[in-house]
Amino acid sequence: MRTSVITGLNQNERELFATLDPKRLPHHIAIIMDGNGRWAKKRHLPRVAGHKRGVEAVRGTAETAARIGIPWLTLYAFSVENWKRRPKTEVAFLMRLLQTYLKSEVSTFNDNNIRLEYIGRRHELPSEVQDVMQWAQDATAKNTGMVLTLALNYGARSELADAFNSILDAAAKNGGLEHLRKQLIDEETIGKHLYTSHLPDPDLVIRTSGEMRLSNFLLWQLAYSEIYVTETLWPDFDGKHLLEALRDFQKRERRFGGLTEHTA
Ligand code: FPP
Repeated sequence: MRTSVITGLNQNERELFATLDPKRLPHHIAIIMDGNGRWAKKRHLPRVAGHKRGVEAVRGTAETAARIGIPWLTLYAFSVENWKRRPKTEVAFLMRLLQTYLKSEVSTFNDNNIRLEYIGRRHELPSEVQDVMQWAQDATAKNTGMVLTLALNYGARSELADAFNSILDAAAKNGGLEHLRKQLIDEETIGKHLYTSHLPDPDLVIRTSGEMRLSNFLLWQLAYSEIYVTETLWPDFDGKHLLEALRDFQKRERRFGGLTEHTA
C-alpha cells in the first residue's frame, strides 16, 4: 500500500505524508468547498472563473485522497440554497460545469479506482444533468477503492425531512401508522433513512476560505467530527493542503462526548 501511495504523490506531498501515521488516517473526510467567488474577485475575474479553477481543486484533492488510501470522501458541491441565492446565469454555469466535469473525469476515476456516488435531491436537478450523473455513476460502479460522494442539491434539513418521510412510508407499508406509534424511532432508524445510510460518519470535516459555519451540511453525521478550517480559498486547495489538514487531525484527541481518545 505505502509504495503505491508514494509513487502517486509529488515531492511536497511525499514529505508531508511521511510525517503522518498511516494507521490513523480518517476513514471519511467531508469538505465544504468555499471561496471560489473570492478567488476570482482577487484576480478581477468573473465568479465563474473561480468555479472553473475549483474543478481543478476537486480533481487534485480526490486523486490525493484516493492515493493515500482514504476510503470515503464527500464534497459539498451544490446546496439546496444555491438555487435561490445565486444568479440564474451562475446556476446554469455550475450545471454545465458539473456535466463537463463528470464526462471528462470518469477516466481519472477509473485510473484511481474511485467509485462515484451522490447525495441530495437529485430528482430536482435538470434532467440532462441527472442523465450525465447516472452515466458517470454507472461507469465507475465496479471500482473498489475510494467512494467519492458529491453532495448535489443537498441540504441537511431537507435530508432529515426526507428521512422522516421515508420512515413514515416504511411504516405505512409495514402495518400502518398504528404500528409506527408502538415503535421507538431511535438514532439507528434515522441513520438508516438518511441519504448517507451506506456511509460511516465523517471523522473530519474541512472548510476552506476561513468561514466558521456548517452551512446546512451533514448536520446529523458531523455530530462528533473534527472540524478543520483553513484560510485557503477552494481553488487554491490541493493535495498538500489536504495532507496538512490530516496532520492537524492526527494531533487531535477525539472525545465522542466521553473520555479522551486518540484520532482514528
Ligand atoms: C463556493 O464558492 C463553492 C461552490 C458554489 C460550490 C463548489 C463548486 C465547485 C468547486 C465547482 C464545481 C464542482 C464540481 C464537483 C464540478 P463561492 O462561490 O460560494 O465562493 P465565495 O464565498 O467566495 O463567493
